[in-house]
Amino acid sequence: LVQPVILAGGSGTRLWPISTGNRPKHLLEMVGKGTMVEQTLDRVGDPDLFAPPMIVGAASQADDVGKLAPNARLILEPIPRGSAAAVALAALATDENAIMLVLPSDHYITDPAPLYEAVRRGLPAAEAGHLITFGIEPEQPETGYGYITGGDPIGNGVLEASSFVEKPAKEVAEQLIRSGKAYWNSGMFMFSAAAMRRELQRHAPEIYGAAKAAMERASVEGQGTTPDRDALAGCPVTSIDYAVMEHSDRVAVVPVRLSWSDVGSWAAVFDLAPKDADGNVLGGRAHSLGSRGCLVRSDGPEIVTIGVENLVVIATADHVLVVPLSEAQRVREAAELMKRR
Ligand code: GDD
Ligand code: MG
Repeated sequence: LVQPVILAGGSGTRLWPISTGNRPKHLLEMVGKGTMVEQTLDRVGDPDLFAPPMIVGAASQADDVGKLAPNARLILEPIPRGSAAAVALAALATDENAIMLVLPSDHYITDPAPLYEAVRRGLPAAEAGHLITFGIEPEQPETGYGYITGGDPIGNGVLEASSFVEKPAKEVAEQLIRSGKAYWNSGMFMFSAAAMRRELQRHAPEIYGAAKAAMERASVEGQGTTPDRDALAGCPVTSIDYAVMEHSDRVAVVPVRLSWSDVGSWAAVFDLAPKDADGNVLGGRAHSLGSRGCLVRSDGPEIVTIGVENLVVIATADHVLVVPLSEAQRVREAAELMKRR
């Protein structure tokens, strides 16, 4: 059985003001039915393929997450240290021979069947010590993703990766796509716990050391394991992509045709959601009079937009955001501004 590991510790600041530090996007309903963590849990519910899940997330959200997954083991971070530390903690909490499938909790996948097929195809390579990535055919030179270049085939349609570039500059992304050999990194990974520990020791020894010390002094209560705060505080903050995937020579890629989206911005939410006759996405207490192509959502006061186009308008009880859809990536700045005040 494959051990699912769900990463649920991001702050999701690009979906402010609905998503905040206390109520991050993975605990909210963004697109489709159920919170993003619930949708991710559903994806790994098949007991013929998956062991009960492990979730790595903030200690402060232990109750919320625990309720959603009573059968899960929770690794509860007293402080966030980025996805590299989260993966390191999970790899240390897992039997070294187990195969882990690491899933972010910010993905919207309509039909996961191709993913299961890709997991099955990738298993032998994972057992042989490869770090498996799932590669998506790139559509445009998106700079928010990692890019994997496929190299020599190693069986089952799996390719050795000849390079992994995390969040390249636009020109580099264009070049990678022109090569015809590059895939988007889906952000899902599969490897044995032993292989990940080894690659962490080799490429990110400080992260490995801090995570190991934190797990050795962890406290256990019910379904939750809380790594030691002081030990974790010494851990560099970075992502698994920068810490390991860019440097390891054991990376492999399983190309997969998946209708997949990283729900990383209000523009992504807009693209994924069903539209009304005027091309609007209206959620909660939102109304439109002749507006077009807008995303309007209110969890607070009633909103009426009149005759505006291509706008994002989001309200909560305390905050209102208004931004052109085309600049939705800048929402992170608003979250930062509010934090400073
Ligand atoms: N537990 C925990 N702790 N989880 C974390 C932490 C942390 O400190 N930081 C981030 N995560 C989780 C997020 O909740 C998310 O589920 C996952 O790790 C990935 O983090 P993101 O911040 O969403 O990464 P990204 O989208 O910018 O980039 C990654 O995903 C892309 C595809 O969606 C990379 O893997 C890219 O290469 C990839 O293309
Ligand atoms: Mg993401």
